[in-house]
Amino acid sequence: MLSFAASGWRIPAEHQCMKDFIHTTLPDILGSIGAGESTLNVMGVGSGSGEIELEILKLLHKKHPDAKVENDVVEPSNVMLNKYKALLSKTPGLDYVTFNWNEMTATEFEKEWKKRKSEKKMHFINMIQMLYYVEDPEVTLSFYRSLLHKDGKVLLILVGSAWARLSEVCDDQVCKEGIVQNLTTSEVKSFLDSKNIPYKNYKLQSLLDITECFTPGDEKGDRLLDLLTEVIEFRKTAPTELKDRVLEFLKRPENSQTVNGRILFDCSTEALLIDA
Ligand SMILES: C[S@@+](CC[C@H](N)C(=O)[O-])C[C@H]1O[C@@H](n2cnc3c(N)ncnc32)[C@H](O)[C@@H]1O
Repeated sequence: MLSFAASGWRIPAEHQCMKDFIHTTLPDILGSIGAGESTLNVMGVGSGSGEIELEILKLLHKKHPDAKVENDVVEPSNVMLNKYKALLSKTPGLDYVTFNWNEMTATEFEKEWKKRKSEKKMHFINMIQMLYYVEDPEVTLSFYRSLLHKDGKVLLILVGSAWARLSEVCDDQVCKEGIVQNLTTSEVKSFLDSKNIPYKNYKLQSLLDITECFTPGDEKGDRLLDLLTEVIEFRKTAPTELKDRVLEFLKRPENSQTVNGRILFDCSTEALLIDA
């Protein structure tokens, strides 16, 4: 098995399109929830190092400047939680937020919540790039949706189909710690449709210039291949057969387009905004 880099790696183009979505589309959505409430209950599931979550909290405050915010963070990784707390300590102006830290998986938190018999309802829950890690995404999503206030929303973000297929190409030889499945929004949408659960979807279009991946020995190409496969030193350590398979996959027209001689990989993600 090749060594998996680290959960939470993200390529810059993907990160940027997520930030664009959060700054352009999300503010109006955040403005539409919890009107007139003195406290807004929000939650991050698989919050990671908190970078995206803190951005969301700041936008929420802009829309509801008089409301206090209570944020439940559900994150099993102690390393991630420490990074989150370090980031928080360097981020001024968040004194309207109370943080409840839950160092546990989404499923452990579900059990914990049921034990507490809490009546608390959530105005907004983010589940960004995390549903791959749970055993039963439908059960998990249904539980977190059940916590919503009547006009609350769950924001789910998952990779698009080219990304998911790339994981499948590497699957037999790359051990991705913690990843249980190559889930995409297509499966989640089918599930939501089958239950008549209302949602809106937003494609977060993103292209990554991977031209250098096809030049053996090119340093930038090496770094990109590491990011794409999430394997440290992929070009040096992967068996030739896997390298050929990955490069052939990346070049396929359904995964990449060629513009002015540059090869652009479709690393789009998709956001679903799910109603209560
Ligand atoms: C790709 S990161 C996404 C982090 C963050 N949501 C973001 O978008 O910046 C996935 C996160 O899910 C966490 N995670 C892994 N297994 C989990 C589980 N079973 N329940 C909840 N979170 C989990 C990981 O520790 C990691 O922080």
